[in-house]
Amino acid sequence: MLDGTRVAGAIRAELAPRVTEFLAARGRRPALHIVLVGDDPASQIYVRNKERAGTDAGLLVTVHRLPASAPLEDVLATVRRLNADSACDGILVQAPLPKTIGKQGTEQVFDAIDPAKDVDGFHPHNVGLLVQGRAALKPCTPSGVIELLDREGQSLAGKYAVVIGRSEIVGKPMALLLLQRDATVTICHSKTPDLEATCARADILVAAIGRPGFVTPAFVKPGAVVIDVGINRVDSRDQAVALFGANHPRLVGFDTRGSMVVGDVHPAVVDVAGAMTPVPGGVGPLTIAMLLKNTLVAAEGRPRT
Ligand code: GUN
Repeated sequence: MLDGTRVAGAIRAELAPRVTEFLAARGRRPALHIVLVGDDPASQIYVRNKERAGTDAGLLVTVHRLPASAPLEDVLATVRRLNADSACDGILVQAPLPKTIGKQGTEQVFDAIDPAKDVDGFHPHNVGLLVQGRAALKPCTPSGVIELLDREGQSLAGKYAVVIGRSEIVGKPMALLLLQRDATVTICHSKTPDLEATCARADILVAAIGRPGFVTPAFVKPGAVVIDVGINRVDSRDQAVALFGANHPRLVGFDTRGSMVVGDVHPAVVDVAGAMTPVPGGVGPLTIAMLLKNTLVAAEGRPRT
């Protein structure tokens, strides 16, 4: 098992002296501003985790809460105010935005963020730099996966990597970062024919689909490195038993809480893979560590005021 919690702890430990140095040099802490629109329960939890991790790391974290009914103009106004605030180093608008904002509205909001404060690395300017291999602010989840592979001693050059999922947040940037590190990369998605056979050729398989236990042992070449980006809540006990078997220790957790969080990779893959990330405790902690790192990178790069 690749220990994301341990690696995330190592990254955070490296950030600590930089936070201290920034505070000494600028007389203020690096400041992360999170914009949370609406009351999506998963987003509430993600934002709370980011807030806690940031505060623990010595950052100043401010959460700006807007109601689900907030018009697009209010969300844009919040972003513009933060762009203009010289004491704001990083801006994160938690996705997804409410349905009323829509896909186009969401694009407008993310495009409005000052690229220098774009700690998610989602702005077209930063995506362009990422394509060219020279981005300073890279999307947190895929850059966390690269850090995890590096620090767990997994080489990438010359490997065949398959990414399942083509989202702007994970799949596409993941493929670009693997390519940058000299892997040969295939991106698969819902329209890919013979998905199983393609995945079964991968030395490194990254699952970012959003379907619990989708990647079964048939998708995995023996000895492959399997990275599970999925965070799926399962609240059917039958589904939990189907995934884990009736006697698995994780069923105890299910029975205590009435639900459980599982990845996109089926638990039986552990018998086939050479190394894999657990869920929880794999990629998730890395995403947050890289958010802290991006905030510091953005803060250090800002002009002194
Ligand atoms: N929602 C799910 N993942 C993310 C992420 O990495 N950043 C933002 N802003 N929203 C998300």
